[in-house]
This record gives sequence, C-alpha cells and structure tokens, in this order.
Amino acid sequence: MNATTVTATTVAIELQDVHKTYRSGPEPAHALRGISLALHSGSITAIVGQSGSGKSTLLNCAAGLELATSGRVVVGGHDISGLSPDNLTRFRRDHIGFVFQAYNLIGHLSVLDNIELPAVLAGRQTDHTWLSHLVTEMDLGGLLDRLPAQLSGGQAQRVAIARALIARPTVIFADEPTGALDSRTGAAVLDLLRTTAQRLEQTVVIVTHDSRVAAAAERVLVLADGSLIDQMDSPTAEQVNDHLLAVAR
Ligand SMILES: Nc1ncnc2c1ncn2[C@@H]1O[C@H](COP(=O)(O)OP(=O)(O)OP(=O)(O)O)[C@@H](O)[C@H]1O
Ligand SMILES: [Mg+2]
Repeated sequence: MNATTVTATTVAIELQDVHKTYRSGPEPAHALRGISLALHSGSITAIVGQSGSGKSTLLNCAAGLELATSGRVVVGGHDISGLSPDNLTRFRRDHIGFVFQAYNLIGHLSVLDNIELPAVLAGRQTDHTWLSHLVTEMDLGGLLDRLPAQLSGGQAQRVAIARALIARPTVIFADEPTGALDSRTGAAVLDLLRTTAQRLEQTVVIVTHDSRVAAAAERVLVLADGSLIDQMDSPTAEQVNDHLLAVAR
C-alpha cells in the first residue's frame, strides 16, 4: 500500500449505506442513517447541517476514527471497515490528515512537537522546508515553544491544521477548521487548505457552519438528522445560507 495506489484511484472516498448508532445512553442515538457518497480524488467537499445532524460522526467514520455500525467505507480503494486496528492506524498515519473540532493537541508537548507528531509517529523525517512553509502560512513562528494551554482558540486551531498537513496526507478531513477564527484568518486558513490540496492533489472534506467556507468547496452536502438530504455544486454563500435556513425551518 503506498501513495501511488491511493492517488491513482478516481474515487478517493466512498461510503456505502453507512449507519452509525450510539448505544451508550438510555435511548440509541441514530447519528447516521444510511449515508452513501463518492468523492473524487482532488475534490473539495463541504458538509453542512445543523448541530447534531451527524457531521462529526460522518467525518470520524470516513476517516476510520470510529467504526460504522454497518455499511462500507472505502478510502483510496481500500475498504477500511475491514482493516485490523493496527492496519487501520497505519493506513491513517500514511494517508489521512484530520483537523479535530476540539483541536486535540497534546497538552504536554510544545507547539512544534505537536505539529511534527504525525510525521514522527509515521516514522518519517520531518521535511523542514515544508514545516517552515506551514509555520509561516499559519503564522505560528513566535509560538513554537509554547504549550497548547498557552494558546488562544484560533492559535490552537492553526496548530491543528499545520499538524494535519505535515505528513502530506492524500486525504484531509477537517471538522470546523475555521470555527474559532475571525473571518480574515478563516479565509487565510481556507486558502492554505485549497492551495495545499491543489499542490499535493489532496482530497479535502470540510465540515462547517459557515456558508462562506462551504461556498469555497466544489460540492456542498447537506446533512439532516443523519441523512444526506441535498447537494449543491459550486454554490454561492447565499445559496448555502438559503438551504441551511430551509433545513432549520
Ligand atoms: N459518543 C456518542 N455517544 C452517544 N451519542 C453521540 C455520540 N457522539 C455523537 N452522538 C450523537 O449523535 C448525533 C450526531 O452527533 P455529531 O457530533 O455527529 O453532530 P454534529 O453535526 O457534528 O454537531 P455539531 O455541529 O454540534 O458539532 C447527536 O445526536 C449526538 O448527540
Ligand atoms: Mg460536530
């Protein structure tokens, strides 16, 4: 399994009738109710929907961070629903970058060590030219020695994005990557995700509440109560807004 086999596939991410039910509470929570989609290599897709509609669950299942209750998840031609836990971890390290909604930075590691962590875990040398490019683009130069607790929400978010990109994954999943950022910084982050995606031929999936962020995607998928109810191709921010308002009614 190598990067070539992944990028050679036209469909980068495919979900077939994916269900996810959480049974931890008194009532089962049906977070995903039969999601099927196919996203092409190099495409940028946004997922929108109300709070609780299943966006994070969908991203987690597509990235192999959570197991679907049923259905198939195929990334780069590999059915990740069938991989052993070890192989899944290795696959994720080699191919997937993930920006968590809650950043998930390691508290006792410096900003620099947090950014380098995926490369270290994958047993790779850090590419220092790429690292300094990311540090400059994310404006993290003065923060590399700090601990995550000493960062603002927006700074932590930018560290999380640099960390997701450091190993040059073929697929990037980003859960509200601009949620803690002001609009100017949010636009810069989006720009970096887009130019990096183009340069590295990455497939990008972004969950967002922000219609302007969604409008930067080629395709916008609308999720409601665990089901995909609509899709828009190259919509404007106004069109995304109208859809979100219609769903909220
Ligand atoms: N670990 C869990 N255990 C039980 N229920 C869960 C769990 N994670 C999520 N859920 C439920 O699944 C549904 C979908 O949650 P999810 O986090 O995917 O929503 P979301 O669209 O990402 O929301 P938000 O916009 O607030 O981040 C919700 O009803 C939520 O309460
Ligand atoms: Mg979420």
